[in-house]
Amino acid sequence: MKIAVYGASGYQAKLVLAELSRRDIDAVLVGRNAGRLREAAASAGIADVERQVADVDDHDTLVAAFRACDSVINCAGPFTPSGRRVVRAAIAAGCHYVDTAGEQLYIKSVFDTFSDDAERAGVTVIPAANDACVGHRRSRCGCGRGCTRRSTRRWRSRCGLGSSTAHSGRSVRP
Ligand SMILES: NC(=O)c1ccc[n+]([C@@H]2O[C@H](COP(=O)([O-])OP(=O)(O)OC[C@H]3O[C@@H](n4cnc5c(N)ncnc54)[C@H](OP(=O)(O)O)[C@@H]3O)[C@@H](O)[C@H]2O)c1
Repeated sequence: MKIAVYGASGYQAKLVLAELSRRDIDAVLVGRNAGRLREAAASAGIADVERQVADVDDHDTLVAAFRACDSVINCAGPFTPSGRRVVRAAIAAGCHYVDTAGEQLYIKSVFDTFSDDAERAGVTVIPAANDACVGHRRSRCGCGRGCTRRSTRRWRSRCGLGSSTAHSGRSVRP
């Protein structure tokens, strides 16, 4: 099995890469910045792993990056502006799709937009395959030290969450 990790240079992706390694599953690191992908591969202890540079705006390159994979795990948030383009490319490449989104309107739009395409392509699309949701995390990060969305900087620096998590939280703020 081979799994493409999109947004492979971020915090969530780091956890995903560790889990794929633990399960001995081949990964392809995909993202918009070659240098950050190289650093991510090195810090995950898989410096020689396959890496593909593909911007979300470049459908053909994204499809080509995913083509030889069975599934795509999309960790590139915030998902509201870019996630649908990754879903579309994954389906076009014949890959199953999972992401870590917690942005409710984005999640709904994936079901609304892609259910028929996914069924026709014979792939499964699962947005928001996560351990919590942004709506929860934006009010309390769970570290027990009182980090809240009003203290995002402290939340990030103490708990190591990526900046995109904070952006995602802001994107669903009522
Ligand atoms: N629901 C949950 O349980 C849960 C928990 C945590 C996080 N999340 C979500 O997961 C997402 C990632 O969080 P994180 O903490 O890993 O963030 P992060 O460390 O900031 O990483 C974000 C990643 O996404 C990439 N990215 C962002 N915008 C992009 C774009 N327009 N095109 C291509 N790549 C883009 C970044 O690439 P560059 O390195 O090139 O900038 C980076 O690889 C967030 O949206 C967050 O809300 C969900």
